[in-house]
Amino acid sequence: MTPAPSSTAARERDERVANRSAYEAVIERLSKASVDKHWEPYRDIPWDDPEFLVDPADPRWELPEVDKLGGHPWYRSRPPEVRATIGLWRVATAMKIGLQFENLLKRGLLNYAYRLPNGAPEFRYVYHETIEEGHHGMMFQEFVNRTGLPIRGMPGPLSAVAQVAPWIPLISTELFFVFVLGGEDPIDHVQRKVLKDGRAHHPLEETIMRIHIAEEARHISFARHYLRNRVPRMPAYRRFMLGIAAPIVLGVMARIMLAPPLAMIKHFRIPSNVVSEVYLRNTAAKNEIRESVGKTRELCAELGLVNALTRRIWRAMGIWADPR
Ligand SMILES: [Fe+2]
Ligand SMILES: [Fe+2]
Repeated sequence: MTPAPSSTAARERDERVANRSAYEAVIERLSKASVDKHWEPYRDIPWDDPEFLVDPADPRWELPEVDKLGGHPWYRSRPPEVRATIGLWRVATAMKIGLQFENLLKRGLLNYAYRLPNGAPEFRYVYHETIEEGHHGMMFQEFVNRTGLPIRGMPGPLSAVAQVAPWIPLISTELFFVFVLGGEDPIDHVQRKVLKDGRAHHPLEETIMRIHIAEEARHISFARHYLRNRVPRMPAYRRFMLGIAAPIVLGVMARIMLAPPLAMIKHFRIPSNVVSEVYLRNTAAKNEIRESVGKTRELCAELGLVNALTRRIWRAMGIWADPR
């Protein structure tokens, strides 16, 4: 059994990839790291260890007071086991939406790899990534199953629209990797924040998050280096179109990844004024969405995708912040 990483793994090195060989060296390093450091859910997670069993009434699932919902008087006035179940429901919903996003992502990666020429270094890395995402999907679904709760993922209409995502690489591989960052960065942002909040977490949640953060660091790194290598070489009109599409995709993705779980709201009959105060008219919720795409926003600016026109789209999507 490979123990989960003991600390929140550092982000991968972010390098300038001025020339083709620097870029290829990064891909080779990421491929090698995928062989040296990876985890398998049914080998490396002791699901049946008594300490790892999931009890919805476990107080460790309770939301902290600093949380938008956790600090709300409505939540605080619920009995302890209801507070715990709501917390668990939210963790499990994030995992369910995460595994649905990663399902679309895997299909997109395979569509991308299908057309790669012999000898392309991206082929091997993209297969490593697809395999790791396969493990993440099993790990997240096993967690959801063990909660015993009727967890739902993306709302139906959204899920129907999302089915176009795997086909984006056929139109633009650059836009596809913006979509990838649009899903991976907000998940990573939230998981890192949870692990750093100084509270005692359930060991199963903690193990899953540490494994996920460690492997996602490579995926995020690949997407960023891919864009760094490709965007400067794009014809001006395609770069212009990417500049327009990027903030739309990122704004939609961040909202999908951080959306309030509708099934949970219904199940616990959370009053609409509470939902609106916590999720809609809440500056902290808006800041969270803006912050969760911060690293991708900086990358887009660095790649010349932000100008007076596209900045208006970033603002309209609620994800713009002036560079610090
Ligand atoms: Fe993943
Ligand atoms: Fe990933």
